[in-house]
Amino acid sequence: MPLAHGRRYLAIPGPTVVPDRVLAAMHRPAPDIYAGPLHTLAEGLVPDLRLLAGTLAHVAIYIGNGHSGWEAAIANVFSPGDRAVVVVSGHFGLGWAAALRAQGVLVETLDGGRRAAPDPARLETLLRADREGRIRAVLTTHVDTATSVLTDIAGLRAAIDAAGHPALLMVDAIASLGCDEFRMDAWGVDVTVAASQKGLMMPPGLAFLWFSDRARAAGREARLRSPYWAWEPRAFPETFHHRWSGTAPTHHLFALREALTMLVAEEGIAAAWARHAALAGAVWAAAEVWAAGGALALNVPDRRERAHGVTALSLPAPLGARLRDWTDRVAGVTLGIGIGHPADAAPGHFRLAHMGHVNAHMVMGVLGVVEAGLAALAVPRGRGALEAAAACLAAAAAD
Ligand SMILES: Cc1ncc(COP(=O)(O)O)c(C=O)c1O
Repeated sequence: MPLAHGRRYLAIPGPTVVPDRVLAAMHRPAPDIYAGPLHTLAEGLVPDLRLLAGTLAHVAIYIGNGHSGWEAAIANVFSPGDRAVVVVSGHFGLGWAAALRAQGVLVETLDGGRRAAPDPARLETLLRADREGRIRAVLTTHVDTATSVLTDIAGLRAAIDAAGHPALLMVDAIASLGCDEFRMDAWGVDVTVAASQKGLMMPPGLAFLWFSDRARAAGREARLRSPYWAWEPRAFPETFHHRWSGTAPTHHLFALREALTMLVAEEGIAAAWARHAALAGAVWAAAEVWAAGGALALNVPDRRERAHGVTALSLPAPLGARLRDWTDRVAGVTLGIGIGHPADAAPGHFRLAHMGHVNAHMVMGVLGVVEAGLAALAVPRGRGALEAAAACLAAAAAD
């Protein structure tokens, strides 16, 4: 008997749940793009985007998804034949490296595996060997959404500095911004890339770049830059239209205004990080109980190296796929697929997102549905997962 009638819940790591307020903000006739509310609204976005990323850096907004953000970052920093190091912890780090290679950048990957945070000491060794300082930038994912590994960004900056190397530090914060603590300036990040459809609680369609003065200076020589991708006119626009290199993303801007009001002005970014930490703690508590008594495994063993917005899990194949099918079909909860694993053809891997517009009852609902699905499929598991998650939330709320 299907029990899925009612509001469905998309628990995948992007696109995430769009708040009703954000949806309502878009529900309006097309606005004038030459004057009026859209112009006033656009002025206020940059200060809030700076607060979101913990930076005073320059901001460029693109109409595009995360891949467009990757390419924008590459285009503004590199010329063909330049060198880069990509610190990889999963599918998306490899994706950024592939985008670099496709544009003629010589890439060395420093692969930290799929289950742990990459070791900054390895980066230091690699950079020390580059005596002429030919590596132009180190790129990495703060959270690799495929593996749910959280990379130590401040540690990578410390490694670059310890090696006395001039490389820029460029970070994909697409899956972490608004969820995991991220401090662009304090951590010495030169370029941050994000997109609208995860922690920012919006539909896909906007990509964001924050870039430091150092990155801006490096960008002046970048020969991959084209008029559309160039960040200067977007960050320092002569007219409203320069900021968008054409027609503004009208309705997305109203959505962005509302999302930033909710996240930065009302909840506050530190409170949003704390909420994600508490909700992640509940998910891990449940998953660790399931894992202790049976077949389920968390991808990242060390809690300190786990993202707060998504948790990658596995069951022996094909149980992962069967669980996803059960929660979706029977209970109206869509879990994320596994990405980038060798066994994706008969998947055991899956992901549970707790990212963006998510609260305690949504997380408890998902965990309860997973418990029901595991029971329906007779998967061996530890008992008491929901009690563990509830205790975790109770403790977090008392702090
Ligand atoms: C960490 C990370 N980087 C890049 C991307 C690519 O973003 P998009 O699919 O919007 O192009 C994703 C998408 O999930 C991601 O999670």
